[in-house]
Amino acid sequence: MTDQRLFELACQALKNAYAPYSKFKVGACVLSADGRTFTGCNVENASYGATICGERSAATRAVSEGVTRFTAIAVATERQIGWPCGICRQVLHEFSDDMRVISGNAATGEFVSVPLTELLPRAFGPRDLEDL
Ligand code: THU
Repeated sequence: MTDQRLFELACQALKNAYAPYSKFKVGACVLSADGRTFTGCNVENASYGATICGERSAATRAVSEGVTRFTAIAVATERQIGWPCGICRQVLHEFSDDMRVISGNAATGEFVSVPLTELLPRAFGPRDLEDL
């Protein structure tokens, strides 16, 4: 699975984004350690706090299929290179402390790749709760 292909899958998922309030559509695609892909999109709600981001939508889908080890996630928006929000960074860290985050603009096709550790250094995670 190439970064390009993973990003294309995120761009496709973006088309299903339900974002009538913010108009900010997000698509995402998680790549699992065993090579499977899981797409997601942001799903907003009239009760704004019930909104789920595209990244967590994709991650939740992977976990619900029994996949808890991620290698990469691609994230696509329509307007800019959009980095995952803080909550999504934390959720991704739960399933991999060394995954890559590919983020890009679906309108231009431009994307970049960075390690999650760059977006969430010195993270709190499962290891901190071991041996309690
Ligand atoms: N959003 C995401 O899907 N991912 C992020 O990392 C940032 C924000 C969504 C949530 C909401 O539907 C819209 O973008 C505006 O915040």
